[in-house]
Amino acid sequence: MSSFTNHILSWYYKDKKQFPWRQTRDAYKIWVSEIMLQQTQVQTVIPYYNRWIKKFPTLKHVATASDNELFKHWEGLGYYQRVKNFRDACKQVLDDYNGIIPNTKQELINLKGIGDYTGSAIASIAFNHPHYVIDGNVKRIMSRLLCLPNFLSKSMNKIDKFLSAQISTQYPGDFNQALMDLGRYICTPKTPKCAICPISEYCHAYLNDK
Ligand code: ADE
Repeated sequence: MSSFTNHILSWYYKDKKQFPWRQTRDAYKIWVSEIMLQQTQVQTVIPYYNRWIKKFPTLKHVATASDNELFKHWEGLGYYQRVKNFRDACKQVLDDYNGIIPNTKQELINLKGIGDYTGSAIASIAFNHPHYVIDGNVKRIMSRLLCLPNFLSKSMNKIDKFLSAQISTQYPGDFNQALMDLGRYICTPKTPKCAICPISEYCHAYLNDK
């Protein structure tokens, strides 16, 4: 493991946010969380996630629930297409995979409502496959870390190259979630908290006062 990867994982294990979906390895529960988190802030998602898991503890419960029940438990999260797609995907898993959630990113992204980001998130967090995730937070961290100009496709290539070399093959889900936490709480858009950043010693923007 590179020392960069070691640093960010150690920080995560010490300081990680104890979100309820981080207390499980159940792929269904991780899937629920990732769908809810697609367009909704973490703090808002927490109570919805807890209520959902209580009401629908397995994907079979979702596949067989009425529209009314599903919508009632989604109410307030918005973007109702998400829950419709999710229910269709649960049915797909029951019909095509005997109720066992497929464990590769390729199969996951063939399910309704799972795109590249969510496919990588589930494959890494639930199944330990080394797929990195890139969202706005990760782009910001990487732009600073590698001191890249924004919005250049060359920059994206460099980010891909860096992440594919650095992602922990042993703990890819933790690596991804560490970057999510770092972007959300430390490497924030305005006034990033470089003084307490676990990877400032690797950060080219920080080291160069940029
Ligand atoms: N945003 C998307 N996926 C997340 C996760 N697993 N933990 C925290 N924030 C997230």
